[in-house]
Amino acid sequence: MKGFTALISFVCLAGSASARTVFSSLSVNGNWLGQDVAVRVPSANAPVTDINSDNMICNTGFIQPVSTAVASVPAGGQVTAHFHHTSAGYVGPDPSDPLDPTNKGPALAYLAKIPSATQTGVTGLKWFKIWQDGYTVANTQWASDRLYINGGNATFTIPSCIEAGQYLLRVESISLLEATEYPGAQFFLSCGQINVTGGGNASPATVSFPGAYTATDPGIVTNIFNENSYTPPGPAVFTC
Ligand SMILES: *[C@@H]1O[C@H](CO)[C@@H](O)[C@H](O)[C@H]1NC(C)=O
Ligand SMILES: *[C@@H]1O[C@H](CO)[C@@H](O)[C@H](O)[C@H]1NC(C)=O
Repeated sequence: MKGFTALISFVCLAGSASARTVFSSLSVNGNWLGQDVAVRVPSANAPVTDINSDNMICNTGFIQPVSTAVASVPAGGQVTAHFHHTSAGYVGPDPSDPLDPTNKGPALAYLAKIPSATQTGVTGLKWFKIWQDGYTVANTQWASDRLYINGGNATFTIPSCIEAGQYLLRVESISLLEATEYPGAQFFLSCGQINVTGGGNASPATVSFPGAYTATDPGIVTNIFNENSYTPPGPAVFTC
């Protein structure tokens, strides 16, 4: 029995260690901006696990110096957040790149208006969700499976009707491998720095980070091995 318990904890440790992933670069309408450009890249690929932590906003322990670039994105344009196994981006063949395929979970993207996309302070921002990918029951495929197939590229559209100006783009991959209780879910996230041009005057409903997720959210506490339906955590996706 003791050996069995040891084996189980070894398997769990191996699982959590390899599930790691980092969003570290951006493309705008198919043009890659370069590694670490216009993204606050955490140097470690460790997850955030405390949903009440300020690290849920944009992560922590950034590669220095943090990029001072702000990516120009036309409203209605397509953005790709690139995830890889470590903060170094793509460094060659790695069975755990962009993430370990045994990792299962959703992927989500949020925007928050900010006076300057390069400012250090990120508390108190008002976030709205612009994209999410969850679980497809019909083929038992998770967003993480699609992220793996797509080489770590999570692509979504910036709503055409939002106001022009500077925003933080928070993109997150969640591992639910150990999410049968809270804490357990692992949050891998970074913030991109963007300047939306064009646009309109929509004012989306917003949520706060931390605050948008709760310890009883079925999108955060769930059993991936017994999933009949799944709704990612947080608010509905804003549409124009
Ligand atoms: C992901 O995006 C990068 C940069 O645009 C591109 O080179 C690569 O081919 C894409 N990977 C897949 C699998 O689409
Ligand atoms: C954002 O775009 C506007 C409109 O093109 C421009 O005037 C402004 O300088 C840009 N700001 C940044 C930080 O790129």
